[in-house]
Order: sequence, then structure tokens, then C-alpha cells
Amino acid sequence: MEQRVRSPPLLRPFFLKTPSSMQSPRRQRRHTLPASEFRNLTPQDAISVFEIEREAFVSVSGECPLTLEEVLSFLSQCPELSLGWFEEGQLVAFIIGSGWDKERLAQEAMTTHIPDTPTVHIHVLSVHRQCRQQGKGSILLWRYLQYLRCLPGLRRVLLVCEEFLVPFYRKAGFQERGPSAITVGALSFVEMECQLRGAAYARRNSGC
Ligand SMILES: CC(C)(COP(=O)(O)OP(=O)(O)OC[C@H]1O[C@@H](n2cnc3c(N)ncnc32)[C@H](O)[C@@H]1OP(=O)(O)O)[C@@H](O)C(=O)NCCC(=O)NCCS
Repeated sequence: MEQRVRSPPLLRPFFLKTPSSMQSPRRQRRHTLPASEFRNLTPQDAISVFEIEREAFVSVSGECPLTLEEVLSFLSQCPELSLGWFEEGQLVAFIIGSGWDKERLAQEAMTTHIPDTPTVHIHVLSVHRQCRQQGKGSILLWRYLQYLRCLPGLRRVLLVCEEFLVPFYRKAGFQERGPSAITVGALSFVEMECQLRGAAYARRNSGC
């Protein structure tokens, strides 16, 4: 068992604003929703999350990492380990994580949140179909890792992915830990790990 840590407060929304010098007066009047906002998800976001997830996974593998009930459960139990990217109020990409207390991920981790542990398990990262291949997945993952570095007591992040996504996660700072014990139907996975506290550079530049 790993050492327990206290749950952090939720992330207040922060926005990516267009500098006012670049906005026309007409545009400023028409838009009241922020162009781009990052915030923790809530159970009220579960339907939007599930719609993106269903499109991303069911059509491809027939299996979603999380059912709607599991999305609701994690967003109720540990919203502080989620991050959503909204554009003009619409969810365009999200990450859902939970706490885990063992060295490697086990099947049970798929449906379990262990509170107050130094290890975060990313269950799913998904980008809306119309927004893929634009760098959003990488940016959201980078922001999520920086956000986790600012939370007290967190040490590392684990996830499982299919072989073809290993280069994507490697670029974000994850390292392979070998084949995962987790399977979903006929699918098998590689387990990957990212240390949150190792890089002095990351700490200096995290803006915590
Ligand atoms: C995987 C996913 C999150 C990547 O997000 P994205 O915004 O499309 O990716 P980015 O634009 O940030 O791409 C970054 C890099 O990853 C690569 N990449 C993205 N999706 C890929 C895929 N499906 N297969 C192989 N490489 C992929 C891109 O080619 C790019 O590489 P490059 O920098 O060498 O050009 C997104 O495609 C998605 O939601 N897919 C469906 C759900 C999924 O598979 N989630 C991951 C498992 S939980």
C-alpha cells in the first residue's frame, strides 16, 4: 500500500483568451462564452463526456473504457483528477483519472478510485472527432500533467494504451512498463508511467 495524501480542492476554470487588441468590437459584443476554458469536470458533464467517448471507441473497438455509470461515478468521487477542454462552452477534449494504490495497474483499477494516494490512473483521454490531429490531445495531456504537479502528494501517473499509441504517450513523457495485466475483450495493452516529481525543469516551469 502506498502512503495516503489529502484530496486537493477543485481546479477553478482558467481561460485561454484572445488578446483584446486582436478582437474586433463586434466579436467582443457577440460572444459571452470564453473561447477556450480548462476546468475539472463535474457529474453534469457526464453526458458530453460519454458522447465523445462513445464515438471514439465504440465505432473502433466496440468497447468504451468507461460506461456512463462509471463516468458518473469517477466524476462524483474524484472530479479533481479530471480535466476538460471547452470551446465556447462545448466540451472538445477530456481526461478522466482516479487514484490507485499499487505498483502496477490491475483489472480492478478499471472501476476503482482509491482516494488519497500518490498514483493517478488515467482511464481515458479523448478528443472530439472534429478536433483530432490538431495538437489538442497533446496539449490537454501536457496541461493535465502540469496541473497534477501542482497538487500536493502526487508522484506518478499510470495508464494503459494500445501499442499504436505508445509513441503519442512517449512524447508526453511516459515510459513503457511492459504488457499490462488488463484486458478488455480481445484487446491487450501496454502499461505506461510518467513521474510527476522527477524533472526539475517541469517543476520550475509549472507555475504552481
Ligand atoms: C489519441 C487522441 C487522444 C490523440 O489526440 P489528438 O488531438 O488527435 O492528437 P494530437 O493532434 O495531439 O497528435 C499528436 C501525435 O499523436 C499521433 N496520433 C494521434 N492519434 C493517433 C492514432 N490514433 N494513432 C497513431 N498516432 C496518433 C499524431 O499523429 C501526432 O503525431 P506527430 O506529432 O508525430 O504528428 C485522439 O486521437 C483520440 O481521442 N482518439 C480516440 C480515443 C483514443 O484512442 N484515446 C486514447 C486512449 S484512452
